[in-house]
Amino acid sequence: MKKLYRDAVDKLTPYVPGKPIQEVQRELGLADVVKMASNENPLGPSQRAVNAVKKAVEEIHYYPEGSCFELRKILAKKLGVEEGQLIFGNGSDELLLMISQAFFNPGDEIIQGDPALTFVEYRAVSNISGAEPVFVPMKNYGYDLSAMAEKINDKTKLIFIANPNNPTGSIVTKQEFAAFMEKVPEDVIVVLDEAYYEYVETADYPDSIDYIKNGANVIALRTFSKIFGLAGLRVGYGIAKKELIDILERVRQPFNVNTLAQAGAAAALSDIRHVEASRRMNKEGREFFYGSFEVMGLEFVQSEANFVLVDVKKNGKDIAKRLMQEGIIVRAIGTETTIRVTVGTKEQNERFINTLKNILK
Ligand SMILES: Cc1ncc(COP(=O)(O)O)c(C=O)c1O
Repeated sequence: MKKLYRDAVDKLTPYVPGKPIQEVQRELGLADVVKMASNENPLGPSQRAVNAVKKAVEEIHYYPEGSCFELRKILAKKLGVEEGQLIFGNGSDELLLMISQAFFNPGDEIIQGDPALTFVEYRAVSNISGAEPVFVPMKNYGYDLSAMAEKINDKTKLIFIANPNNPTGSIVTKQEFAAFMEKVPEDVIVVLDEAYYEYVETADYPDSIDYIKNGANVIALRTFSKIFGLAGLRVGYGIAKKELIDILERVRQPFNVNTLAQAGAAAALSDIRHVEASRRMNKEGREFFYGSFEVMGLEFVQSEANFVLVDVKKNGKDIAKRLMQEGIIVRAIGTETTIRVTVGTKEQNERFINTLKNILK
C-alpha cells in the first residue's frame, strides 16, 4: 500500500507548548496557577489594544485587509523602512513556515543552533520542506558564530539566529555579528529572529535594519506576542529588502492576519507607556531572579529577554513537575538540569523563588 503522507513528515513531531493554566487547574485540582512558561507579558495587553479589538469585533463579518494596511503604515514609519519591506504573519511562527515554503528546496542545508538550546521551530520548518537542518553546538549557552560560518558550503540556503536566543536569553553582539556577516556569501539568507527585541538593554546589540538597508540578505522577525502582550491574537512581522519580501508574499495566505489582530497590534504600537512599564518590570524581575539564584548557589545565563535559564543542579523535568504541583508552570528545557522561567510580576517572581527554594531544600 502506498504511504499517504509526505516522507518529510516522518521527521516531524507535534510542537509541545507550555501547558495552559486551565489544563493544570483541571488536572491537578489547583485554583491558583501561574504560567511562567511561554514568555508572555505578565502585565497583560495594553488597554488601548483591548479597546481597539473590542471595536474591531463589530467588523468581523468582513474579511480582514490582507495587506494589513494600517498596521503596515504605522510600523513602516516607526521603523523607518519602506512599506514594501514588511510582511505580516499569524505570529512569527507563520513567517518561519513561509520562509521554509518560499526558500527551501529538498536537500538545502539550513544552519542553526543545537535544538536543545535554541528555538525548536527552526528544525521543524527545515524538515517540513525536506531541507537538511545543520545543527551547530552552542558555546557557553550562546551561538558559536565562527563554527556556524565554517558550516557554510554550496548547499547552504539559510542560517537561523535567534537574537536574543530562546531558551538562553543570550545575544549575539554587534561585533560578533559583523565578523560573521563578513563570512556569509551573498547567496545565503540570514534570519535574525528578534522575538524579544524590545527587552534588550545592552547597546552592544546588532541593528538588523541597518544590514537590511545596506542590501544584505537579512530577514528580521519580530512579534506582538511578547512585550506587546498579544500572544493570543497571533501577529508577527518580517523586515527585509523588498526582493525577499516579494518572494515571501507569494506563499502568504490571503487573509493570514485576522481583523482583531491587526487592530490590536496597531493600537499596541501607540501605547509606549505600556511597553516601558513592561520593560521596567521585566528588568526588575530579572535582577531579582539573578540575586536570588546567586544566594541559592545556582548558575544562570545572563538574559536580554523576559526569561532566565537556570541550572537547578537536579533533573530539570522533575523540578518543573514539582513546581507545577505547586501551581507554577515553567519549562524544563536546555540541558538535563536547566529550567527556563519567564519573568512574571513581583508577586509571581517571589512565589516562584520561594517555592523553588522549598523544593530544592
Ligand atoms: C525565538 C522565538 N521566535 C519566534 C517565536 C514565535 O512567536 P509568535 O509566533 O508568537 O510570534 C517565539 C515564541 O516563543 C520565540 O521564542
